[in-house]
Amino acid sequence: MKTLISGGTVVNSTGTATADVLIDGEKIVALVSPGSDVWGSDLERSVDTVIDATGKYVIPGGIDAHTHMQLPFGGTHASDTFETGTIAAAWGGTTSIIDFAVQRTGERVEDGLAHWHELAAGNCAVDYGFHQIIGGVDELSLKAMETLVDEGITSYKLFMAYPGVFYSDDAQILRAMQKAADLGLLTMMHAENGPAIDVLAEQLHQQGRTDPYFHGIARAWQMEEEATHRAIMLADLTGAPLYVVHVSAKQAVEQLAWARDRGKNVFGETCPQYLYLSLEEQLAATSDQWGAFEGAKWVCSTPLRSKEEGHLDAMWQALRTNDLQMVSTDHCPFCMKDQKELGAGDFRAIPNGIGSIEHRMDLMYQGVVTGKITLERWVELTSTTPARMFGLHGQKGVLQPGADGDVVVYDPNGHTSIGFGEGKTHHMNMDHSAWEGFEIDGKVDTVLSRGCVLIRDDEYLGSKTHGRFLKRGLSQYLV
Ligand code: URP
Ligand code: ZN
Ligand code: ZN
Ligand code: ZN
Repeated sequence: MKTLISGGTVVNSTGTATADVLIDGEKIVALVSPGSDVWGSDLERSVDTVIDATGKYVIPGGIDAHTHMQLPFGGTHASDTFETGTIAAAWGGTTSIIDFAVQRTGERVEDGLAHWHELAAGNCAVDYGFHQIIGGVDELSLKAMETLVDEGITSYKLFMAYPGVFYSDDAQILRAMQKAADLGLLTMMHAENGPAIDVLAEQLHQQGRTDPYFHGIARAWQMEEEATHRAIMLADLTGAPLYVVHVSAKQAVEQLAWARDRGKNVFGETCPQYLYLSLEEQLAATSDQWGAFEGAKWVCSTPLRSKEEGHLDAMWQALRTNDLQMVSTDHCPFCMKDQKELGAGDFRAIPNGIGSIEHRMDLMYQGVVTGKITLERWVELTSTTPARMFGLHGQKGVLQPGADGDVVVYDPNGHTSIGFGEGKTHHMNMDHSAWEGFEIDGKVDTVLSRGCVLIRDDEYLGSKTHGRFLKRGLSQYLV
């Protein structure tokens, strides 16, 4: 099966050119300049499908390196299954995800990982890999880390937040990082001071401040700055490279920049919610007009930050200056009904998370439209760097011969109305959208994964058995 994507503007992180992309089977086999007679008239004749991309961008499929399908959290599970979540990903131009396999205290890492394989296998519309959450660092889990690289799981996540759930104390973090440094595993860190946050949350609760908004007050930026610094120093001491997830506070970025300026092997991602949504808007949504509980839609950790204090601008700036290297979603959807509602009257019981997997490419393209980032940087932040960071480079994240035929045709003249309801996008399994009302100049036009068309002419043509497990190599960012 040969497919030719013709006449489009091919955008890689390294540059932009007018070229045709030829896919044979699952792989890109050539990028051909228009008018070149390398292939002569044979080319058009020998392909099975021609996709006309004239006037459109042709980019490597998005890689969302931070998703939580079916995550057990707060007495419930994230509402997207691997099937619904990866179909939504495809609609949004994301052709690979890296989800988090879960080990909780008292469970075996191997069992958590096997469970995650069971959940995902045969249920993914796009390719999928795993990071391993280590929620209980002890002798057994440290030993289990030794087999992860062979399993193609070359990164793992620790939590400085959520005491009693996924939390690791400094002693546990130190021991895990020592092990990771030996093994070449990339340490991903949820950097918030969980024990201190729990005290603040309890005090707010005692004062009757129980609305969703107070989630963000309890999780003050100082909690993120402090934990980020601590993670950097522990990583530095052990020689483990560090990747800080869902960075939202400008002071946390300052810590990352400080460390990078000193040559430390430290990286960070932010998420669309920390670029576009603010604590002030969350507060506005808790006015009587909306009903105080409306704010639960935006309860996530790290929390939304104050726009007035400059956190949102700081995230955009860091993406430009490369103090932050990537944008992932931290896709962790919960419905309002029966899920977010668990925290009615007590913000501490609201399951944490926002669903955005479908909107990341569109929302980040908006940064190109508004002049905040270049086209090439859009591709770099959403695809090329995720591939390099997480051991997929060459296979994913780039349009070049030999790479997988994961291609998105993106129409800069199209329009996308994000939200829940008639005439809007939204294929995620959620009864609301945290992004309701966002209007995008641009539209995902056609999506291919390993040469198979998943989205074309506003139709999903994929299958839940198409997605394959990605056995990842070591991060390209290890030294
Ligand atoms: O609110 C969030 N981020 N939920 C998912 C779990 C995590 O901490 O990434
Ligand atoms: Zn489960
Ligand atoms: Zn986290
Ligand atoms: Zn997460």
